[in-house]
Amino acid sequence: MADRALNVVCICGSLRKGSYNRMVMNALPGLAPAGMSLMEAPPFSEFPLYNADVQETSGFPPAVQKLADAVRAADGVIFNSPEYNFSIPGGLKNAIDWVSRVPNQPFAGKPVALQSAANGALGGGRMQYDLRRAMIFLDALTLNKPEIFIGNCSTRIDAKTGEITDQQTVGFIRQQLAAFAKFIVQHGPRS
Ligand SMILES: Cc1cc2nc3c(=O)[nH]c(=O)nc-3n(C[C@H](O)[C@H](O)[C@H](O)COP(=O)(O)O)c2cc1C
Repeated sequence: MADRALNVVCICGSLRKGSYNRMVMNALPGLAPAGMSLMEAPPFSEFPLYNADVQETSGFPPAVQKLADAVRAADGVIFNSPEYNFSIPGGLKNAIDWVSRVPNQPFAGKPVALQSAANGALGGGRMQYDLRRAMIFLDALTLNKPEIFIGNCSTRIDAKTGEITDQQTVGFIRQQLAAFAKFIVQHGPRS
């Protein structure tokens, strides 16, 4: 483990209040290994649709800069996202597109881990492979395994309390966070 806390920011791909992915994200601090600190990234909900003309005439919106700065400053990034129509939710993709245009693009060399919860049986796997592909283009370092696909999520997460009730899922998440901490240390946390 590093000789200081590893700071990880989490980006939730769902905007809705009752999001299962947000519930998973909120559970992570309780499942993380010692020495890993997790916080939610600044929101992307107010980002305009990406338009290079806006970027060229008015520069990057402050909210974009804020998210880019948080990603750049973090030792690692975790995406907690649903799958929409077999792919990345539009809002999240738009956020990645904006952040990817900021100079010294912040995903380059950044350790990234993926988690998804979805009501389909595959748990958002198809979304993850698209997100993984976007991260390849951005030169992020995406953790390969363990993978976290929470299928039929409404049967594994209590929508009222936000608790992950399926202990196998809890175990997989613990394993992934432990592997991610090692992965960050191997690839060099930010000094
Ligand atoms: C626009 C839209 C598209 C969806 N597409 C998929 C899909 O491709 N695969 C899937 O498993 N679930 C799909 N779902 C269902 C989501 O898995 C479910 O709504 C889930 O709860 C969304 O995540 P959240 O609770 O974090 O908002 C879709 C839902 C919406 C609103």
